[in-house]
Amino acid sequence: MILPIYIYGQPVLRKVAEDVELNKEVLEPLIADMYATLEVSEGVGLAAPQIGKAIRVVVVDLSMLAEDLPEYKDFRHAYINGHIVEASEETETMSEGCLSLPGISEEVTRPKRVRIQYYDEQLQPRDEWVDGFLARVLQHEHDHLEGHVFTDRISPFRRSMIKSKLTAFLKGKARCHYKVKTVKS
Ligand code: NI
Repeated sequence: MILPIYIYGQPVLRKVAEDVELNKEVLEPLIADMYATLEVSEGVGLAAPQIGKAIRVVVVDLSMLAEDLPEYKDFRHAYINGHIVEASEETETMSEGCLSLPGISEEVTRPKRVRIQYYDEQLQPRDEWVDGFLARVLQHEHDHLEGHVFTDRISPFRRSMIKSKLTAFLKGKARCHYKVKTVKS
């Protein structure tokens, strides 16, 4: 099932998401819906708060990047109850966008590598250091679980440049090709 994506201004995007019970019967259909929603919206990552649920479930699909980054061939993973527990001091600046803030992209500086603890789709515990584009995506999604969006991390000057776009979201306006839920819908 394709779910609407919650847009900036929706209170759920500001909540700290909670760990979920490791119940395959509940998680399997939820994760399937999240993959389907991510696919039609052509994103690389989706966190459960973006579909209105303040729980720690994230899906990542980097398979479309495989042409340039072959290490991500068929890369499609779910991260359940994920927590970033360590980060490198070395940082990197990259352009980011977000399905909950359509039409905005800004440079964000983040640690280059992070250590994440989570449960995979088979509900097995994992503890991994990740780097590269995956580290970037997981940090962006982890922010969603902590009630943050990427524009919280840009300079006041850059934020002033996108203020009218943020205000438009708060008025219920969002222009994109996928189904959304704004504060007004
Ligand atoms: Ni996002």
